[in-house]
Amino acid sequence: MNSDKDIVFIDDLNVKFGKKRVVKNVSLSVKPGEIIGVFGISGAGKTTMIRVLTCQINKKHWTGNVKITGISPEKKKNHPKILSKIGYVPQLEELNLYYDFKPVANIDTFASTYGVPVKKAKKIAENLFTILDIPEDTWKKKLAKMSGGEKKRVSMALGLIHQPDILFLDEPTTGVDAYKRYSILSYLKKLNRELGTTMFIISHDMECSLVCDKAAIMRNGELLEFGKPVDLIASLPSNGTIATFTIEGISKKKIELIKEFKPVVNIIRAGNDVIEILIDNYEKNISKLIEFMLEKKIKINEMSRETATFRRYFQIRVQREEEKERTK
Ligand SMILES: Nc1ncnc2c1ncn2[C@@H]1O[C@H](COP(=O)(O)OP(=O)(O)O)[C@@H](O)[C@H]1O
Ligand SMILES: [Mg+2]
Repeated sequence: MNSDKDIVFIDDLNVKFGKKRVVKNVSLSVKPGEIIGVFGISGAGKTTMIRVLTCQINKKHWTGNVKITGISPEKKKNHPKILSKIGYVPQLEELNLYYDFKPVANIDTFASTYGVPVKKAKKIAENLFTILDIPEDTWKKKLAKMSGGEKKRVSMALGLIHQPDILFLDEPTTGVDAYKRYSILSYLKKLNRELGTTMFIISHDMECSLVCDKAAIMRNGELLEFGKPVDLIASLPSNGTIATFTIEGISKKKIELIKEFKPVVNIIRAGNDVIEILIDNYEKNISKLIEFMLEKKIKINEMSRETATFRRYFQIRVQREEEKERTK
């Protein structure tokens, strides 16, 4: 790793609150302009890691070599410099503070916080609001009267008002209607393309992986994986090819029976009668698997071949970790 070229550099980060280790031996580095997704179930340590990067955690709680735009958040005197180069969009609930404001008033507040001249801030805001399709008549509307998606976009604009190099977003799609989630993500991609902003998207929503250059998977404070979503998927047996079966009257017993077929690596329940099977050497073994199932009197109603989504990858990867722990 080359800590000079990396816009974010983390080497062996550990965070402890009291006796509890919340982030364990995390190392990763990020190039300028990348969109990084940080995934994991609630309590994995995602927010804590980001709070170290955004100067929100006292040094007495953490160890490791951390650099943001080449500067370490270790020393308090570096914080203003780092804060001028990063933006932070908190989880929606935390925005409550500003709900009484209108976006234009918010712009003033934020601009003065960051020491941006109001005139300049207005210009930047106009450009951001245009990219984000926030119509002019909304600018004077109270934030409290906006939809979840609109609020999120306004808060994204506020996070970018001082033109930071890096934008951190904590759960940007949480609390947004399912059908609008992708639109939030595509706005982030648009901002990234037009402004070149490096982004960290923290989420337990796997859909976010669609816009990420790299994904970090966290569990119990540990970084399990860090890589391109397609590469992670391709690291699964048979490059992530999945055989999906609809089976009559699926049961635990039947699943155990299928597991006896040696090349089977993973079986996932994906619905009442649906299982997804990952096998080694798909091309060679799939017809043998079907024969094996028929021999065992397992009735197959339907079968299809798919490539694992990132959501599936995540599930399989975490499941593997849980199994490792159980057999320890
Ligand atoms: N300030 C704190 N003091 C004590 N424990 C904390 C503090 N902040 C977070 N934690 C604990 O650290 C763990 C990870 O939390 P967090 O980083 O918020 O996870 P995530 O964002 O992945 O849901 C949780 O068990 C949480 O309770
Ligand atoms: Mg969190």
